Amino acid sequence: EKIQVGLFVGSLRKESFNKKIANHLISIAPEGYEYKIIEIGQLPFYNEDLEGDKLPDSYKSFRAEVEALDAVIFVTPEYNRSVPAVLKNAIDVASRPYGKGKWGKKPGAVISSSIGAIGGFGANHHLRQSLVFVDIPAMAQPEAYIGNAAKLFDEQGKLTNEDTAKFLKDYVAAFSEWVEKFVKK
Ligand code: FNR
Repeated sequence: EKIQVGLFVGSLRKESFNKKIANHLISIAPEGYEYKIIEIGQLPFYNEDLEGDKLPDSYKSFRAEVEALDAVIFVTPEYNRSVPAVLKNAIDVASRPYGKGKWGKKPGAVISSSIGAIGGFGANHHLRQSLVFVDIPAMAQPEAYIGNAAKLFDEQGKLTNEDTAKFLKDYVAAFSEWVEKFVKK
């Protein structure tokens, strides 16, 4: 059975550069791994009043999807030097109810990408703060800050920048080593 890696994209935009990076990761998933995007845009804002009989179906199915994963990769833009609300919301939804969070112990990684030069550094590190609390051991190195994202893809959304392609190939190889410290299949 393949190791299941969920990709969480912090942008809902159809032409999102982060989504394009996630799709590239799917296309280069190493042997023995299945990478797939887990949708987060359908989740209503987290509200504790919804726990119990009012629990939205979308929360139920999202929590089950997260639970079934072996590992997670966040691929996110930076909004105002932090994590986009939609991604923070997804983390919150699967972190509750208290004591029954779904993230714990799943090895993870953070890739941030921006049209600017700093590559989403602020979002990358703010996200890591939440990952500590939900108990996702996040790979420290290599770090991934992908800048100038608008220049990396062709019209069809395919990654054409060779340096970035090489970087991501090495990145997923490093991530497999990280995952295999925690997951035995
Ligand atoms: C941005 N953008 C942005 N970029 C950045 O480098 N640092 C930032 O703090 C912000 N802040 C920000 C806030 C909001 C509300 C938006 C909509 C955008 C620009 C951002 O990098 C750009 O829109 C990317 O294209 C977003 O990623 P996707 O949607 O292409 O994946």
